[in-house]
Amino acid sequence: MKEKQLITRIQEVQYDELDESRRHLVDLARQATKRSYAPYSKFRVGAAIALDNGEIVSGSNQENAAFPSSTCAERTAAYYAHATYPDAKFKTIAIAARGTDSEEVAAPIAPCGACRQALLEYETLAGDNVEVILVGRDAIYILPSVRSTLPLAFSEF
Ligand code: THU
Repeated sequence: MKEKQLITRIQEVQYDELDESRRHLVDLARQATKRSYAPYSKFRVGAAIALDNGEIVSGSNQENAAFPSSTCAERTAAYYAHATYPDAKFKTIAIAARGTDSEEVAAPIAPCGACRQALLEYETLAGDNVEVILVGRDAIYILPSVRSTLPLAFSEF
């Protein structure tokens, strides 16, 4: 019998410790939460993706009365980014959220399984790690790649 371990490396930092470009991405993810359409859950999520062409694309969760038709902030941003700039590679994604009290969540939230799978595809297309920044009021987590959020991920290629 062989045992294997999958380790996820997470750096916990404060906003002030971030360099300017990461801070900017965090600001944009936080701002994107304000454009969320979440009348059902009242949980507002924002995502901002930095591309290798210098553009930053943001998105927010968009809900629907038919709940499964809703999309998360991460996929809204990712699909918009790739639909608009199909040749650009994803470099970094920042994700922020506000709870039902409208305040920023104290601890960062992590993308749902479906978003991890979707983001992984763009990381694979990029051919390089896409850094993931999870934003909370009391802490910010930096993960080195999407793959590190989805151990044993399915991939056809
Ligand atoms: N949501 C996101 O947009 N991203 C996440 O990472 C987790 C959840 C959305 C889906 C739904 O609109 C609301 O947050 C509550 O689950």
